[in-house]
Amino acid sequence: MRSILILLLIASIPCCAQKGLKDYYHDYFPIGVAVSPRALTSPDTTLILQQFNSLTPENAMKMGPIHPEENRYNWKDADAIVDFAVRHGLKVRGHNLCWHQQTPAWLFKDDHGATVTKEVLLQRLKDHITTVVDRYKGRIYAWDVVNEAVADDSTTLLRNSPWYAICGEEFIAKAFEYAHAADPTAQLFYNDYNTERPEKRERVYKLLKHLLDAGVPITGVGLQGHWSLFEPSAEELRTAITRFASLGLKVQITELDMSIYAWEKNRRQRRPDESDVFTPELQQRQADEYKKVFAVFRQQAKALTGVTFWNITDRYTWLDNYPVPGRKNYPLLFDINGQPKKAFYEVVNF
Ligand code: GLA
Repeated sequence: MRSILILLLIASIPCCAQKGLKDYYHDYFPIGVAVSPRALTSPDTTLILQQFNSLTPENAMKMGPIHPEENRYNWKDADAIVDFAVRHGLKVRGHNLCWHQQTPAWLFKDDHGATVTKEVLLQRLKDHITTVVDRYKGRIYAWDVVNEAVADDSTTLLRNSPWYAICGEEFIAKAFEYAHAADPTAQLFYNDYNTERPEKRERVYKLLKHLLDAGVPITGVGLQGHWSLFEPSAEELRTAITRFASLGLKVQITELDMSIYAWEKNRRQRRPDESDVFTPELQQRQADEYKKVFAVFRQQAKALTGVTFWNITDRYTWLDNYPVPGRKNYPLLFDINGQPKKAFYEVVNF
């Protein structure tokens, strides 16, 4: 009776029940996942603790959610995630300090609704970064400081966001300086998407080199990794990692998912003839893609200091609503029931 009880007890302890991604990759890099605070008190909690050793708040630390009014911060969700991570010995990547999306309504406007000056906006950025980074000092080891500043348009370097329109390129260097001053030991990342496409890769490289030459305290580059069955190739991925690493930067994959559809930037309605069934053929192709990119990650483990998935299981992914609302996607390693997919086994069998 007693031994049965002990067995039951051991089986119910999530960390001991099964080897997870983080264990298979123990000698390579941490494996992270983007979470909401709700995921930390849900059936997903067991899976999180079993599989991952790093967390990224999916939305809770973005400027809109965490700093909704100029004189008010909303720490609840971000604190819940950081406290959970500390309690369970997980690393935390902070995401993010300066982005053109999910910004609070007050940020770019004065009391009369007019656009603020560069001086005011930089002061607001400084106050924001100093307050947020200082709060989590010592508990967040890496920050995505600036997100997606490079333009989609290949003929220009920087995106014409309100940050750029008001401050010019200076906001980027300033954001890193403020973050470094607030926590000199935190690793500071520039984070962007489509960084394996040669054309965009070279523009991101140019920005990073320019920042480094100017002495800006940047320590890494995040390749978001919002990929699909159609890209990147192993060669493109390898080249991107080695090219950025050649600048002396740490490289991380920060938002990995593998869409079953080709990349589209602009939102659109679902077409009547568009199927969203995850057929056995698509499952196999996705498994092949995951196998391919993880083989490159392992080869590049010297340069690569982290791989983070964007969401936990196929039950919830931001790709269900982007770029086509209501078109189901299946981009992760665990299915809608939280069970490992074919792709999972390809990632851990090496
Ligand atoms: C970008 C951002 C992430 C997230 C995704 C979509 O990649 O960096 O924070 O918003 O878009 O979920």
